Amino acid sequence: MQQHTDAVPRLELKHASKSFGRVRALSDGELVLKAGEVHALLGENGAGKSTLVKILAGVHQPDSGELYIDGTPRRFATPAEARDAGLAVIYQEPTLFFDLSIAENIYMGRQPVDRVGRIQYDAMRDEVNGLLASLGVDLRADRLVRGLSIADQQVIEIAKALSLNASVLIMDEPTAALSLPEVERLFAIVRKLRERDVAILFITHRLDEVFVLTQHVTIMRDGAKVFDAPTSTLTTDAIVAKMVGRDLETFYPKADVTPGEVRLAVRGLTRIGVFTDISFEVRAGEIVALAGLVGAGRSEVARAVFGIDPYDAGEVHIGGKRLAPGRPAAAVRAGLALVPEDRRQQGLALELSIARNASMTVLGRLVRHGLIFTRSETQLATHWGKRLRLKADDPSAAAGTLSGGNQQKVVLGKWLATHPNVLIIDEPTRGIDVGAKAEVYGALSELVHNGMAVLMISSELPEVLGMADRVLVMHEGRISAEIARADASEQRIMSAALGQHAAQWGHAA
Ligand SMILES: Nc1ncnc2c1ncn2[C@@H]1O[C@H](COP(=O)(O)OP(=O)(O)OP(=O)(O)O)[C@@H](O)[C@H]1O
Ligand SMILES: [Mg+2]
Repeated sequence: MQQHTDAVPRLELKHASKSFGRVRALSDGELVLKAGEVHALLGENGAGKSTLVKILAGVHQPDSGELYIDGTPRRFATPAEARDAGLAVIYQEPTLFFDLSIAENIYMGRQPVDRVGRIQYDAMRDEVNGLLASLGVDLRADRLVRGLSIADQQVIEIAKALSLNASVLIMDEPTAALSLPEVERLFAIVRKLRERDVAILFITHRLDEVFVLTQHVTIMRDGAKVFDAPTSTLTTDAIVAKMVGRDLETFYPKADVTPGEVRLAVRGLTRIGVFTDISFEVRAGEIVALAGLVGAGRSEVARAVFGIDPYDAGEVHIGGKRLAPGRPAAAVRAGLALVPEDRRQQGLALELSIARNASMTVLGRLVRHGLIFTRSETQLATHWGKRLRLKADDPSAAAGTLSGGNQQKVVLGKWLATHPNVLIIDEPTRGIDVGAKAEVYGALSELVHNGMAVLMISSELPEVLGMADRVLVMHEGRISAEIARADASEQRIMSAALGQHAAQWGHAA
């Protein structure tokens, strides 16, 4: 890649700023992106990463600043202009049409036609099959998008970018919702694109990914670039220090506990075609992790236990009392809380204020005396907001204006404030920055220390190994292994998650 180092950058952004009303999202955004480079853009939640991306993509107009593409000054008034200049953006949640085929999605609005205006389906299909094969994925052009995993949908977005001859590919937290094998497939594709001289901007909160994938790192804080350097010159600690402006002492503060009485007991829970014969217990003081690949049925079990989804057989007991199926309100009264995986859709009322969202589940407690105390509402929001380092300049602003990670923090905070006896938390740290992760782990340790029982669904193995007293691994709707804290390793969990028999890894660990 030597030939590129002296060349004009593929993309350069200088002194970009952007405000939304009173909120200064970006004050001095800077980025230099080279051809054939994977470039990490890092920063805490609310640092301005997505805002910078939206400026590059023509979604937002900057208040000031300059953008150069291959040395030429540019200004994108619309996303179409950015696309025509060779920029493609892949957002975390792909925006495909479910009822169209892969090929139709890729050629949306620009299908090849013959002289009399008929769409050339065969040409389209061949082209797309070629693209998909060149990315090394097992998908066919004719297939409908409906039912495809997020990972596959991302690959289609990438194929679309390639068919448009994009020379810059921007990915905003593409791995947040992927499982390990899917992440590896995405990385293989990114490396292929790099060989083809595409410039790639990669946003993530998983710092281990930075070291395996990227060549350069840019770090933002409070809307401005604070640092950039080649990845090979950096360590995780150095990156964290630049990001949060302080050192993080104890990342996984989980102490060993002597578990108390059984708080949650699940026996023989079965939902036909989804999960089968799920049995486990969680005791006071314990954090039990539910590990496994995305799609193994973990979130479905959580939803059934909480009463959102029905089940066909089995029982759920909270504190020794049987819970009626399909009754979330009764579950909450019995002391159960569920923090859902998809917090943006299931956990947040985007149009309501941040303070109201933060206090919504405890509203019952606050209105007991006949009044909604906006003071206590605000106080609660402030307590957990501070603790999780929520970046919200105005608690009365709509929750939808928060950055992705800060929306997660609001939902997390509101459930932590309910002090349940049993907390089921689905992907507790998805999308949140390292500093806040440490705070979430600290809060969970404190809560179990005070007697709470926690069931933690997590796809992040370091988090499972760092925080869980016991690990249950699910594979295709069944619990395939139960591993004690002392015996847990990434390898053992992955083997069980992939459904490999214990004998295959033997006593290697
Ligand atoms: N449309 C908007 N209206 C008001 N404020 C906004 C809007 N979009 C972003 N902001 C604010 O701008 C700041 C930067 O947000 P941005 O989404 O760029 O952060 P981010 O670095 O992508 O964070 P995350 O890691 O959580 O995704 C935040 O304080 C956010 O609340
Ligand atoms: Mg963002």
